[in-house]
Amino acid sequence: MRLILAPMQGVVDHHLRDLLTRLGGLDGCVTEFIRVTDHCLPPKVFLRLCPELAQGAVTTSGTPVKVQLLGSNPQALAANALKAAELGATAIDLNFGCPAKTVNNHCGGAKLLNDPPLIEKIVYAVRSALPESVSLSAKIRLGYESRNAYLAAARAVENGGAEELVIHARSKTDGYRPPAYWHLIAEIRANTQLALVANGEVWSPEDWQRCREMSLVPDVMLGRGILARPDLALAIKSYAQGKIHQPMSWYQTCQLLHQYHQSTKHHYPVKYLGNRVKQWLAYLRVYYPEADQFLESTKRCRDDSVLEKAFAHELAAHHPPLTVMEA
Ligand SMILES: Cc1cc2nc3c(=O)[nH]c(=O)nc-3n(C[C@H](O)[C@H](O)[C@H](O)COP(=O)(O)O)c2cc1C
Repeated sequence: MRLILAPMQGVVDHHLRDLLTRLGGLDGCVTEFIRVTDHCLPPKVFLRLCPELAQGAVTTSGTPVKVQLLGSNPQALAANALKAAELGATAIDLNFGCPAKTVNNHCGGAKLLNDPPLIEKIVYAVRSALPESVSLSAKIRLGYESRNAYLAAARAVENGGAEELVIHARSKTDGYRPPAYWHLIAEIRANTQLALVANGEVWSPEDWQRCREMSLVPDVMLGRGILARPDLALAIKSYAQGKIHQPMSWYQTCQLLHQYHQSTKHHYPVKYLGNRVKQWLAYLRVYYPEADQFLESTKRCRDDSVLEKAFAHELAAHHPPLTVMEA
C-alpha cells in the first residue's frame, strides 16, 4: 500500500511537502499544477513550483515528487513535460480534474473529461515526448456534470500510454461535497490494467479502510485529511499493521505550523505574511479545536512580531507538563 500527498494549488507548496514527508508515512507527492497554454515555460516556473527538481525530484526526506501539468494543447504539454524532465523530473502527472472556472473556460482540467479522444491525444503526445525512464500518470474526476465519464477517461489515459491513474471519486459538479463515490473506482479497476490510486474524503484510518474495501485499490491519495491531521499517513500505516498510534498533540502540531511559518515567511511577498499559516489553520481546525481559537486570535494579524508572539503564547499555553527530571 502507498499513501500519496495530494496536489493542492495555493496550499501544498514545497515547504509543506518537506514538513509532511519528514513527519513520515507518505510515499509520494505531486506539485501544485503548472498551467500550460501554447508555449514552453521558462525553467524558473518549474523550479519555483518544484524546487525539488534541483535535488533529484525528491523531498529532503527522499520522498519522490511528481510534476503536475494542466492544459489542453497536446504539443505544448508534451514540450513542457520534456522540459520538466530535462530539469530533473522523474515523473509527470496530467491534471484532468481541476474544477476551477478559469481553468475550465480554457478547456483544461475537468472539462476535458467530456472529450476522451483529446485526453488520449494529450497522454499519447506527452508519453511519446518523454524518455522511457520518466513515468507518466493522470488525475481525473468521475465526470464533469455527472459521474459518467470515468470509464471512457480511464481508457483514454490507458490507450494514450500512461502507467498510473489517480481518481478523485467525485464529479466536477460534486465539488468537494461528501461523499466520495469510492465504489465507482472498482469499476475502473475491473476495466483497465492501469495502476490506480483512490482519492477523496479520507480523513481517518477508518475512512482509508472503507475506501480500500469499496474501491478495491490499495494505494490512496490524501488531500484535506492530512492537512487537518498531519500525522494521518502515520496513523493509517499503524492502523494497517494493527499497531497503536499516539496521535500528535496540538502542541506538536503547533510546533510544525510554527516551523512552516518560519520557512515560508521569507519566501512569499511580505504583503501575504501569515496567509499560508492561516490557510493551514483553517484545515487544522477540523481535527484540533485549539486551531479554531488560534485562527480566531491571529486572523487579522499582518505583523510578523505579533504573529511570533502569538505562536510563543500558544506553545507555552499547550506545553506538556514537565517531568520531575526536566523541572
Ligand atoms: C485548495 C485545493 C487545491 C487543489 N489543487 C489541486 C491541484 O493543483 N491539482 C490537482 O490535481 N488537484 C488539486 N486539488 C484536488 C486534490 O488534489 C484532491 O483531489 C481533492 O482535495 C480530493 O481529496 P480530499 O477529499 O482528500 O481532499 C485541490 C484541492 C483543493 C481543496
